Amino acid sequence: MAQPWIAASILSADFARLGEDVGAVLEAGADLVHFDVMDNHYVPNLTVGPLVCEALRRYGIGAPIDVHLMVKPVDGIIPDFAKAGASYITFHPEATEHVDRSLALVREHGCRSGLVLNPATPLCYLDHVMDKLDMVLIMSVNPGFAGQRFIPTALDKLRAVRSRIERSGMDIRLEVDGGIKVDKIHSVAEAGADTFVAGSALFHAEDYAATIAAMRKEIARAG
Ligand code: DX5
Ligand code: ZN
Repeated sequence: MAQPWIAASILSADFARLGEDVGAVLEAGADLVHFDVMDNHYVPNLTVGPLVCEALRRYGIGAPIDVHLMVKPVDGIIPDFAKAGASYITFHPEATEHVDRSLALVREHGCRSGLVLNPATPLCYLDHVMDKLDMVLIMSVNPGFAGQRFIPTALDKLRAVRSRIERSGMDIRLEVDGGIKVDKIHSVAEAGADTFVAGSALFHAEDYAATIAAMRKEIARAG
C-alpha cells in the first residue's frame, strides 16, 4: 500500500489567518492541504475559490493542494484551479454532464484527477474510467459541512474500491473524507484508505503535532 497521507481540510482552519494556520498544520506533519470548494448550489454551503488557492501558494505553501470541488458544473473552474496551483482536483460525478471529459480536462491542465463518491453514489461511476483516475475519494458524510458524524457504510465502500484498485494494477490513491477522528482512523485504514482527510479533528485540536502523531499511530496499527 502507498505511504499514508494525512490531508488537513481547510474548512475548519482559521480563515482570518489561513496561510499561517495551514503552515502550522503542515509544520506539524500533515502531508496535504485538502481545499474544500463549495458553491451553495451543489452543496448548501459556500467557501472559497481559486483566488484563495493562489494566495496560499503565494504565501509560500509548497505542499500538494488537494482541491475537492463541491460545485456544479466543474469544467469552467478546473483550469482556474490548475492555474492557481492545485495538485489534485477531485469532483463529484453528479456535478458534470461528461465525467470522462472532465477527468481528462484535469490531467490536460497538469493536475492529478479524482472522483468523489457521496454516501449514496454507486461505485459503477468508476467502471469505465479507472485509467483516468489518480484518486478516488469516498465521502463518509454528505458533503457540505465539517464536524458531521461518520457514516459507517463508507467502510464497505472503501473495501470494495480498494479491491478494484488492486485489480486494476494502477497507482490510485484511496481517500476518505468526513468524520475522521483519531478513534476512527484505524477502521478506515483497515478498510483500505491510504489518504485521510481531517478537518475539525485536526484544526480544533489543541496540539496539531500530537493529533497527527496519534493518527499515524492508529494507521500503523492497521498494518
Ligand atoms: C465536507 C468536506 C470535508 C470536511 C470534513 O463536505 O468535504 O472535507 O471539511 O470535516 P470533518 O473532518 O470535520 O468531518
Ligand atoms: Zn472535502
